[in-house]
Amino acid sequence: MMKILVTGGAGYIGSHTCVALMEQGYSLIIVDNFSNSKPPVLENLRKLNDNFIFYNVDVTDEEALEQIFLKHDIEGVIHFAGYKAVGESVAEPLKYYLNNVVSTMILAKVCKKYNVNKFVFSSSATVYGENKVPFKEEMELLPTTNPYGETKAMSERILMDVAKANPIFSVSILRYFNPVGAHESGLIGEDPNGIPNNLMPYITKVAKGDLEKLRVFGNDYPTPDGTGVRDYIHVMDLAEGHVAAYKHLSKGVHIYNLGTGKGTSVLELVHAFEEANGIKVPFQIVERRPGDIAVCYADASKAEKELGWKAKRNIVDMCRDAWRFESRQSR
Ligand code: WQD
Repeated sequence: MMKILVTGGAGYIGSHTCVALMEQGYSLIIVDNFSNSKPPVLENLRKLNDNFIFYNVDVTDEEALEQIFLKHDIEGVIHFAGYKAVGESVAEPLKYYLNNVVSTMILAKVCKKYNVNKFVFSSSATVYGENKVPFKEEMELLPTTNPYGETKAMSERILMDVAKANPIFSVSILRYFNPVGAHESGLIGEDPNGIPNNLMPYITKVAKGDLEKLRVFGNDYPTPDGTGVRDYIHVMDLAEGHVAAYKHLSKGVHIYNLGTGKGTSVLELVHAFEEANGIKVPFQIVERRPGDIAVCYADASKAEKELGWKAKRNIVDMCRDAWRFESRQSR
């Protein structure tokens, strides 16, 4: 039985996509080096579906990767593995370029060598830079405010060049907006190491009492309530978007926004969380965070038209599912 190789499959988006893929009957090979994930994720994943084999391998390790391609009949790959903390990428750019860009090149090289021609790439709305919202796939990419965003834009361009040189190679580039929430079982979810950078995991830790209060980074943006507006998408909708993209892979490069097309402000998300879970989330308005843009949301129509995929879970689902996972974690 041919398998799909999922790099970073023990991570937040990767593990949820593995659930969605296995639900569709795919057998998986999960590759992860636990640099931003933990082994217990795999135990919980197995409780949902155990149709996968796991290798603790760093995707930049070409030889180790080749061993996997030699041993298994791989039909295609979904490449999640990569560092994703924007702030950290500003402080440690080389760490990001050496990991995120090199891993994409190594994986594409090994795919080519073993005639694996289906490649789904995890990209980010960050690549749009200061474009006008709603972001559309055909937009010219503008410089991003951080090395993390640059690693995604560079990886996209590398994959486009590889596809141009190898017409049989088919690539689907998926640009995520703001993934939040967790699988309804509460067994897997967003579990960042240390203090969360992102809004929703910070909210859930405040709700649980692990953190004292949420700092709202600025309320003087040109938005309805002055706080930043983002396109939050349920991680299971995002996962199902990967399955749709994989199933529709065809020659050449195809780029899709995976978002809802709707913007939600920081305070709107806080209030939705409080409503959905009946928990107060204390917050304090503080200075803007450097590098943040005011508004970011998708034009999500292309994925709906070409992949037959549309996000179907709403903000309440996202808040409920995020809380269910967090409330089951030990302090
Ligand atoms: C969302 C909003 C903050 C934390 C980043 C990356 C992006 C992707 C998702 C990888 C903003 C505000 C946040 C807090 C706050 N990552 N906020 N207090 O910055 O939109 O996107 O994560 O692919 O590439 O750029 O997400 O959750 O950090 O912020 O007020 O403690 O919440 O200012 O308006 P962001 P975020």
